[in-house]
Amino acid sequence: MNGMLLTLDAPETADREEFRNAVIDGLTRRPRAIPARFLYDARGSALFDEICELPEYYLTRTETRILAERAGEIARLAGPGAALVEFGSGSSVKSRLLLDAMNELSVYTPIDISRQHLDLSAAQLRRDYPGLRVEPVCGDYMSLRSLPRATENVRRLGFFPGSTIGNLEPADATAFLRGARRLLGEGGALILGVDLRKDERELHDAYNDSAGVTAAFTLNLLRRMNRELDATFDLSAFAHEAFYNSEAGRIEIYFRSLADQTVRVSGRSFAFATGERVHTEYSYKYDLSGIEGLARSGGFRVTEVWTDEGRRFAVACLRAAP
Ligand code: AVJ
Repeated sequence: MNGMLLTLDAPETADREEFRNAVIDGLTRRPRAIPARFLYDARGSALFDEICELPEYYLTRTETRILAERAGEIARLAGPGAALVEFGSGSSVKSRLLLDAMNELSVYTPIDISRQHLDLSAAQLRRDYPGLRVEPVCGDYMSLRSLPRATENVRRLGFFPGSTIGNLEPADATAFLRGARRLLGEGGALILGVDLRKDERELHDAYNDSAGVTAAFTLNLLRRMNRELDATFDLSAFAHEAFYNSEAGRIEIYFRSLADQTVRVSGRSFAFATGERVHTEYSYKYDLSGIEGLARSGGFRVTEVWTDEGRRFAVACLRAAP
């Protein structure tokens, strides 16, 4: 019983400690910023799922359409006996589009930081794809150094959908790709989902939806700090802010203080002036030459780019450069 409590308890404490350190550090430095990955607690993940259904948020449905249309082609690129490795799999919804087309896969390896997500989705996949070998890895795909034995000596196809790479600043995106290149090896390839540069209005609206779900997603971070770090954020005294920075080619997201106020977090005080803001996310948008540059910097070259009719979103195939 004690051992059980320990194993259940220990990771929770470590996670909370990591969250506390990141928040204290992020609110102490200037400009203030809290890393985007902390947006995804249970409620944040549910709100993000809601974002994906919003009329203004074209990304998910556009990418899903491209993947559904190109799954056969992607399966042929992988070839029989390949391993599919998904970076940040969550509930593996999009990978099912590929798995449906890849009936000769030797193994599917979802990588996710959340043990809970991973175990649940692995169980569901084993049920729905009885012939498929599922070898999940619990960890941070930004720093993962090795893959399960079952992926050795077979061609490895990586999958990083959702324009999640857009959350990363260019240097971090390059570092991610270099790590992926190392994991996927010679002969490896990566299927990468990337949101494209487009009309500013359309970009703006995708992060400022009329139902206010994106605002709730940003402000959920305050709620999480209140719950997990004994913070005293008044959710009505802060606002979500998102805009397109065309020079940098990115959406920038913040929460902004609507008053002069002091907030306690984990026993410390932080003063906010009216209008002062805390950065929570970047969402970089690329054009085709940007995707090529990114690929090259990570040790890949672009061999295919699939896009939708409106050229809103791209799914690119990157081959490991020798
Ligand atoms: C999951 C990083 C791709 O940048 O569009 C959506 C996150 N934040 N709305 C994005 C997000 C607010 C999303 N990514």
